[in-house]
Amino acid sequence: MSDVLSARNLRKRFVDGERELRVLDGIDLDIRRGERVAVVGRSGTGKSTLLHILAGLADPDVGEVRVAGQSMTSASSDGRAAIRNQYMGFVYQFHHLLPEFSALENVAMPLIVSGRTSLESEERAKNLLDAVDLTERVGHRPHQLSGGERQRVALARAMATEPDILLADEPTGNLDRENASRVMKLIADMSTATGTAFIVVTHDASIADKMNRSFVLEDGRLNA
Ligand SMILES: Nc1ncnc2c1ncn2[C@@H]1O[C@H](COP(=O)(O)OP(=O)(O)O)[C@@H](O)[C@H]1O
Ligand SMILES: [Mg+2]
Repeated sequence: MSDVLSARNLRKRFVDGERELRVLDGIDLDIRRGERVAVVGRSGTGKSTLLHILAGLADPDVGEVRVAGQSMTSASSDGRAAIRNQYMGFVYQFHHLLPEFSALENVAMPLIVSGRTSLESEERAKNLLDAVDLTERVGHRPHQLSGGERQRVALARAMATEPDILLADEPTGNLDRENASRVMKLIADMSTATGTAFIVVTHDASIADKMNRSFVLEDGRLNA
């Protein structure tokens, strides 16, 4: 089966005065449908840079990213947005939920934006919130939820449009160990149930547990 995401020879450097920082120095990565992959690295090793390039939110100096067979790197900015909307979901360290809206409305939002009726969107949002154990919290606004609950809403929202691949940048960075492992287990369960591939970048090596493969990002390279 084809890869949902593939990256070839990604290179990225930042120049600061006369100092040159080689953040990515030849990264190759292939992620198959439904596969879960962790990239672990210390702070400042280039994890977020890598994820931004995979998402088409930043350009590599050299190299190519393909998503579901389409070139992200050579697409226009509208083309990239379309690829992101069709194939990708995102979870960040900070939940980025809309504060004025309930959990249900936050999860339904991407569905309404993609053209579904509000009835259909809310129905699906409710099912997703069930799946992340928030049945009793659908009407709560983000400030009425705990950190772990907010991150589970963010996960439900990211999965709403049935992405082929979920990209996560330190998704458990603000959670205690128990909530972190709960979120990771939910991601693993959802990915198994839906066939959504998952790539997580994190400094937390224990996250690699529930993954199919994990790599260490060090000196611009991915090592097994
Ligand atoms: N836009 C930028 N301009 C200059 N340097 C940057 C920029 N973005 C990131 N960096 C530098 O690149 C390195 C990797 O950053 P980042 O990808 O955010 O690391 P991580 O997510 O692993 O902590 C850091 O040293 C950071 O300071
Ligand atoms: Mg980062």
